[in-house]
Amino acid sequence: MHDFSRIDQARDILDRQRMRGRRIGFVPTMGNIHAGHLKLLERCRAECDFSVASIFVNPLQFGPAEDLADYPRTLERDRELLAAAGCDLLLRPTVEDVYGENPQNSTRVHVPDLSERLCGAARPGHFDGVATVVTRLLNYVRPDIAYLGLKDYQQYLIVRKLVADLGMDLRIEGVETVREADGLALSSRNAYLSAAERRAAPELHRTLHAMACRITGGERDYAGIAANGREDLEAAGFRPDYIEICHAGTLRPAAAEDTELVILAAAFLGRTRLIDNLRLAIDPAALA
Ligand code: PAJ
Repeated sequence: MHDFSRIDQARDILDRQRMRGRRIGFVPTMGNIHAGHLKLLERCRAECDFSVASIFVNPLQFGPAEDLADYPRTLERDRELLAAAGCDLLLRPTVEDVYGENPQNSTRVHVPDLSERLCGAARPGHFDGVATVVTRLLNYVRPDIAYLGLKDYQQYLIVRKLVADLGMDLRIEGVETVREADGLALSSRNAYLSAAERRAAPELHRTLHAMACRITGGERDYAGIAANGREDLEAAGFRPDYIEICHAGTLRPAAAEDTELVILAAAFLGRTRLIDNLRLAIDPAALA
C-alpha cells in the first residue's frame, strides 16, 4: 500500500492509474478504522481497479464544544487494517495540505436545505465542513466512484447533491450500515460508551425497527409514531436530539402519500451522541 501524507505525492500515481484506464475508487474517512469502513473498502475493491482511502480528521466539521481534540487517532493500527484489506493507496494529509495556511479563510461549500435539517440543526456548520472537505478530497483524488456509508444517511444525501450540483464527473455509492450482533451501528464514537451505556445502546436501533414495523403494518400517523419512539428512547436512558420519519430523498417530514421513507434519530447516551437510521419503502398499493 502506498502511504502519503502529502497530496502532491499521490498525484503521479493516480495520474498513471487514470492513464492506464483503471477505475479509481475512493473511501474518505476520519480514521479509527473499523468494520464499517472496511465494508466500504470491500465494495470499492470489488467494483474498482485501484482503491484509495483517506484519513483526515477534518477540523471544519467539528463544533467548538465537540470532540475534535479527543477524536480517536489510531494511525498505526489503521494503516495495518487498510493494507490487510487490500487498499492500494492511503492519503493522510495535514490540515495545511488540505486547507492551506488559513483554513478559516478557505472557500466553503454549502448545500442548502438538506444541510439545515436534523443533524444540521443540532450541529450548525457541521455539514458545511463535511461538504467542503469532501469536495476538496474528491478534487484531489478524482475517483470514478466514491463510497459513503448509509449510516450517515444525511451526509450521503448531501454529498450526492453537491456532486450533482457542481457537475463533478463521478458516482457516489451508498454502502449498507455494518452493525454489532445486537444491532448497534459501528461507530468510532462507540468507544466513548461506558459498560452500562453500551448495554443500553442497541435500543436505538430497536426503536427505529419497532417504528418501521408500525408503518409497514399500515399505520400512517407519523407524528404519533415518532412521539412514541422518543418516549421509548427516553425510557431506555437516552436524551433524544431528534427522531423523525422523513421522505428518503429530501429529508422533509414524510407526507401520507410518500412511498420512500427514512426514520432517522440522534440521541445522547451520557456524553456520547449516537445516530442511526432505517430506510423503508411502502408499497404504493398500500396507500390507496
Ligand atoms: P467517518 O466517520 O470516519 O466515516 C467514514 C465513512 O464510513 C463514512 O462514509 C461513514 O458513513 C462510513 N461508516 C461509518 N460507520 C459505518 C458503519 N457502521 N457502516 C457502514 N459505513 C459506516 O463520515 C466521516 O468519517 C466524515 O464525515 C467524512 C465523510 C470522512 C468527511 O470528513
